[in-house]
Amino acid sequence: MEDNLTILALESSCDDTAAAVVRQAKGGPAQILSSVVFDQTKLHATFGGVVPEIAARAHAEKLDVCAKEALIKANVSLFDLDAVAVTAGPGLIGGVLSGVMCARGIAAGADLPLIGVNHLAGHALTPRLTNNVRYPYLMLLVSGGHCQFLIAHSSSDFTRLGGTIDDAPGEAFDKTARLLGLTQPGGPAVQQEAQAGDPTRFAFPRPMLNKPGCDMSFSGLKTALRRARDEIIAQKSGLTRQDRADLCASFQAAVTDVLSEKCRRAIEIYMTEAPSEPLIAVAGGVAANTSIRAGLERTAHENNCAFLAPPLSLCTDNAAMIAYCALEQYRNGDRGKGELVARPRWPLDRHSPAMLGSGRKGAKA
Ligand code: KG4
Ligand code: ZN
Repeated sequence: MEDNLTILALESSCDDTAAAVVRQAKGGPAQILSSVVFDQTKLHATFGGVVPEIAARAHAEKLDVCAKEALIKANVSLFDLDAVAVTAGPGLIGGVLSGVMCARGIAAGADLPLIGVNHLAGHALTPRLTNNVRYPYLMLLVSGGHCQFLIAHSSSDFTRLGGTIDDAPGEAFDKTARLLGLTQPGGPAVQQEAQAGDPTRFAFPRPMLNKPGCDMSFSGLKTALRRARDEIIAQKSGLTRQDRADLCASFQAAVTDVLSEKCRRAIEIYMTEAPSEPLIAVAGGVAANTSIRAGLERTAHENNCAFLAPPLSLCTDNAAMIAYCALEQYRNGDRGKGELVARPRWPLDRHSPAMLGSGRKGAKA
């Protein structure tokens, strides 16, 4: 391993344009020298979801600005870098292509290796970036676009234990907020309302809890919520503040119960590998939810597993996780010699079947 490895990474697979510089001294912890994120939320706000063409164009406009800012903030020049890394998938293909083309230009101009990184691997390795946790550990990715339990064995070896077969939980929170006239993104708004609500008033379904394994489903929940909302409106010609709070609290309780129970099952499978330091970590915007987080933490501790939630800025999309993943790949011999292909789908676990369909934020991985 080189004394010092310094990598510039770009991320543009969804609606955040990001660049970061991460350095790791020999034997030391990784250090984030800079992490820049341009959020596109406003550009897509009126469309109710990410518009791929708008996203790709905005990425193309912002990527070089972002990269320059990351280098300046890190106080490094292109000559200080050992490699350039880029998210090569999975994600919205126009955005991924914008990132790959920009990174290819930087790498060619500076005569540096170009390392392609799987976006989900970036999320999955975040606990090593922040806390240097040991393999194998269990990971729950839970956001507006992803929901899956993974065992991480190395930067290129993951076992997918299960995931959503339809909506990601963040999507379900966002749709719930829309149904109740709350602001977007829906997760924080629903959580806020739920604080004053009764989580037992509506007996929403806990989908797929009666099925073995770690797969989940969240799309039926919003249908149940819509039905409950419409019934109240039909009876009282409107929703009171309390009705809305109770709907939010009951919805949040259902999601928490499903994720906690599936987490218990994922830990059971993970423990059969006899990990030396059992740990489950979460990543993704939904991990910010205090009820879900408390449910997962409780489940982890009841099952003799440590629980780790990295800082939210590193749980949501960012390029520091891509740079860190590339660092591990580089150390394992990846010098970007293979062909770098932008991929809309790129399952982390090559042995488990790919999920079908598309989410609000692109193809499911
Ligand atoms: O990871 P993220 O920033 O972006 C991607 O999906 O890639 O996650 C955003 C999602 C949104 O759907 C948002 O509503 C949800 O995370 N979210 C939350 C909370 N904060 C953000 N969901 C539930 N409770 C929250 N406190
Ligand atoms: Zn992501």
